Amino acid sequence: MTATELHDLLFGAVQGYSLSASGRSKVGREADPVLTYGEITPESVQYMMEMTNPQPGEIFYDLGSGTGKAVIFAAFLAPFKRATGIELIDDLFQSASESAARYHNEVKPLHPEKNDQEVNFRFGSMFDHDTSDGDVFFTHCTCFDDPMMDQISRKLEACKPGTRVITVTKGLTSPEFELLHSTPFRLGWGEATLCFYRRK
Ligand SMILES: C[S@@+](CC[C@H](N)C(=O)[O-])C[C@H]1O[C@@H](n2cnc3c(N)ncnc32)[C@H](O)[C@@H]1O
Repeated sequence: MTATELHDLLFGAVQGYSLSASGRSKVGREADPVLTYGEITPESVQYMMEMTNPQPGEIFYDLGSGTGKAVIFAAFLAPFKRATGIELIDDLFQSASESAARYHNEVKPLHPEKNDQEVNFRFGSMFDHDTSDGDVFFTHCTCFDDPMMDQISRKLEACKPGTRVITVTKGLTSPEFELLHSTPFRLGWGEATLCFYRRK
């Protein structure tokens, strides 16, 4: 199975923008800019995996995981022991959890090397979950505000040296992270800048 086939199988019928809108309206946050929705593409996750070179047994997190595309593609494309997404909007979290179940039931049996791999999603704020065991992080943070980027930067300082972090558009603000590389890349909503950091 290719990443494109995986996309069509698990996400062909998933309407992330509608799920985000309905989920935000349930909590009265329709217009909150930090909850603006947008998605990665399989190609962009492939590039992120090439740049971060995940090793067998490592752990991946997506902070603000939407319908779960980045988590599931990262799990599919790299030898992570576990890939976990954290999402604040319930409708998105529910959809991602359904896709994780389908990944386990329909995709993993076709790829025996993925047998022991875990893919899961956590509901709630990324700031309420311990992620200090992560090795590779992604956060699609284009619409997060400056205080939130400071908060993410401080949270990630808890990670071990060598941890890799990929951000979109906005950067980390902690001196504990070295910017290795930044590059334009086309995501689901248009051209963005991917920034690659390493924990010192
Ligand atoms: C631009 S979307 C990215 C979705 C997914 N990572 C992707 O790239 O396809 C950002 C997501 O972050 C979520 N989010 C915003 N603040 C959050 C928080 N404090 N904790 C967890 N998720 C949050 C939003 O609801 C939204 O789904």
